[in-house]
Amino acid sequence: MLEKFARYPLTFGPTHIEKLERLSKHLGGKVEIFAKREDCNSGLAFGGNKLRKLEYIIPDAIASNADTLVSIGGVQSNHTRMVAAVAAKIGMKCRLVQESWVPHEDAVYDRVGNILLSRVMGADVRLVDDGFDIGIRKSWEQAIEEVKAKGGKPYAIPAGASVHKYGGLGYVGFAEEVRAQEKELGFSFDYIVVCTVTGSTHAGMLVGFAADGRARNVIGIDASFTPAQTKAQVLSIARNTADLVELGRDIVEDDVVLLEDYAYPAYGVPSDATKEAIRLCARLEGMITDPVYEGKSMQGMIDLVQKGFFPAGSKVLYAHLGGAPAINGYAYTFRNG
Ligand SMILES: Cc1ncc(COP(=O)(O)O)c(C=O)c1O
Repeated sequence: MLEKFARYPLTFGPTHIEKLERLSKHLGGKVEIFAKREDCNSGLAFGGNKLRKLEYIIPDAIASNADTLVSIGGVQSNHTRMVAAVAAKIGMKCRLVQESWVPHEDAVYDRVGNILLSRVMGADVRLVDDGFDIGIRKSWEQAIEEVKAKGGKPYAIPAGASVHKYGGLGYVGFAEEVRAQEKELGFSFDYIVVCTVTGSTHAGMLVGFAADGRARNVIGIDASFTPAQTKAQVLSIARNTADLVELGRDIVEDDVVLLEDYAYPAYGVPSDATKEAIRLCARLEGMITDPVYEGKSMQGMIDLVQKGFFPAGSKVLYAHLGGAPAINGYAYTFRNG
């Protein structure tokens, strides 16, 4: 589905799929849980889901003759860390807007984890006071204008690399990769669990799996706490992506399965249940999930298994999208483990 699109390689290649034996057993053993390790997909600054998306965006940035990648996220954004890494790798400058998306407890929240890495990689990091919003932001538009005013040539990458014409392509590739791995494994996955916020990861998967009738088997776990906006954004990105790849079938609202029960109490703030899910997964599997994204999708998946949402015998693929560096901003939360 992606042959006609230019791709700039930023990842190691197909990501590993492993069975989470001890977690599956702990949850009763009726459902087999696997993880696809998108968190280990590259040597670029700890990797993660944004690199799959950026692989299809960077050729356009290079073709535009830009000299500066301009992007935006929260203070502990994984996405901005990945843009900083890619800018370094391809020899461009990087201007990042980090908004105050999260009410945080740690005094060093804006010094550690992702933002620390972006600074080390040479990005021009600017903190602004605006709160959480996955839409197009004034602070980002201003940053683009400022780069231009100083004679630079900006290339604009929106939050999460999502609302970009090519933002959904990378995760169409994920679905194609899973299909190829399923042939080798000798079975297919019944469900794919994914954390959803700015929407293009879920949207790309949904389009990729729609090709074999599994769009609604992609179970999005909302971590935005603004699920109506996130769902609308997934739908619009999925429709745009389906057109681009010439899917040959319409994407309708019911194709977007987004569960809203796990994002509370706010974006970036872990509930007690999220913290427990992070600990459980770490203690049974040595797999680190973060309090903003993957901890919430892990919590959701655990709850769904416990509630019997997945029929007995199901094979569930948890997409681990990265994000572990952000846990450094939650030292107080995990001060006792
Ligand atoms: C680790 C991690 N998981 C999940 C997501 C959600 O992906 P998306 O923004 O494409 O919905 C993000 C980014 O927002 C992320 O950094």
